[in-house]
Amino acid sequence: MTSTSRPRKQIHLAAHFPGVNNTTVWTDPRSKSQIDFGSFEHLARTAERGLFDFFFLAEGLRLREHKGRIHDLDVVGRPESLTVLNALAAVTDRLGLAATVNATFNEPYEIARRFASLDHLSGGRAAWNVVTSSDAFTGENFRRGGYLDRADRYTRAAEFVEVARELWDAGTERPFRHDGQHFTVEGDFGVARPPQGHPVVIQAGDSDEGREFAASAADVIFTRHGTLEAGRVFYADVKARLARYGREPDDLKIMPGVTFVLGDTAAEAQERAAEIRRQQVSPQNAILALEQIWGVDLSSYDPDGPLPDIDPVADSGLSQGRTHRGDVFEVAERWRELSRAKGLSIRQTVIETTSRQSFIGTPASVAAELDAFVQGDAADGFILVPHLTPGGLDGFVDEVVPLLQERGAFRTEYEGATLRSHLGLRTPAPHHGRILTHD
Ligand SMILES: Cc1cc2nc3c(=O)[nH]c(=O)nc-3n(C[C@H](O)[C@H](O)[C@H](O)COP(=O)(O)O)c2cc1C
Repeated sequence: MTSTSRPRKQIHLAAHFPGVNNTTVWTDPRSKSQIDFGSFEHLARTAERGLFDFFFLAEGLRLREHKGRIHDLDVVGRPESLTVLNALAAVTDRLGLAATVNATFNEPYEIARRFASLDHLSGGRAAWNVVTSSDAFTGENFRRGGYLDRADRYTRAAEFVEVARELWDAGTERPFRHDGQHFTVEGDFGVARPPQGHPVVIQAGDSDEGREFAASAADVIFTRHGTLEAGRVFYADVKARLARYGREPDDLKIMPGVTFVLGDTAAEAQERAAEIRRQQVSPQNAILALEQIWGVDLSSYDPDGPLPDIDPVADSGLSQGRTHRGDVFEVAERWRELSRAKGLSIRQTVIETTSRQSFIGTPASVAAELDAFVQGDAADGFILVPHLTPGGLDGFVDEVVPLLQERGAFRTEYEGATLRSHLGLRTPAPHHGRILTHD
């Protein structure tokens, strides 16, 4: 699979702190707080011990709701991400620190200032995952009475990043002025140009507009395309878009979010994976997952019994927040067919169809598989999503990282001090004395 004409690609690794997801196992006795600083610190220190490129925090601006109550799998009381990263900067040395912050509800001056500050405080380790958070339910937190049209989200996000970069370039050297479609701002930035020039920009949307935005403006893509086949197709698609913006394939790193389960033997890992799936999809959560599709109360159904015969109700409002699963009629039919074909109960169907683990096996087989993905151009690296907080990465760092190093596919020490250097990204030259104006 590895081409002989090019050097072995180096794998990039990031640690996702769980919390805005469906994968965390709460019932495991080793599961600890998802909001205490000690938990963030444990995962960050583990990632740094494993020489990871960066630590990653997602953003959930508003807790999901289900049947008028907070969604069972969401984390109440989680502190704001940039504040957490500033604290982590003080207890880590080299690890990149990435926060997801949406471009739909914020303003560029404030966000540029906060990421520049993190970049200074951490000595060049800041990264910003620019998301577009489209749903009106989330937008209500911001009292705008509505939200941006889907079509405008990426034009705003692209201009948002452009303005932020203009501000970073202006630093304390000169005033800035930007006159554009979404933003007309001018003044003095007041924070010196960040050590990385521009903090690393990550992008996570998957639509055509999202991919185009990434190709034009991002340094890293966080993607859900985590299988070998889908990863290769996505990788080729996005890398091919770069030339249009005068960029090289290496200027944009593709990192799918993936999960893993380790065992001493392949069979043990499979058994552990099955057990984790049963913990993730408790009987109660199986009904909840079904209700998110069907849009009606199904609490009278037996999780160990067959799927409902009734049709789903689209847009019933039963679930609010990021719970969208595509065309509910199509999903319901697909789930029913699977359940009929394999004789699966409600719970077994949900286990089969949602969030399976990506890499299951011995440390050696997982290391080989991760390496094959990267050498086979299905990814440039991975954002690892552990199912346990905060110790879920311990085994990976102790057992898999050394094997990746033995394969010559992963660093044995940090070579540089900044996140850009870990990712092999150039530091952008400042646009000296230029004041950009757009119409
Ligand atoms: C892998 C991945 C991770 C994402 N993480 C977040 C997140 O943490 N917070 C958030 O509000 N949106 C998140 N999003 C949502 C995207 O920012 C975007 O709003 C959504 O994917 C719709 O854009 P699209 O139509 O281009 O896919 C994520 C999307 C993807 C694909």
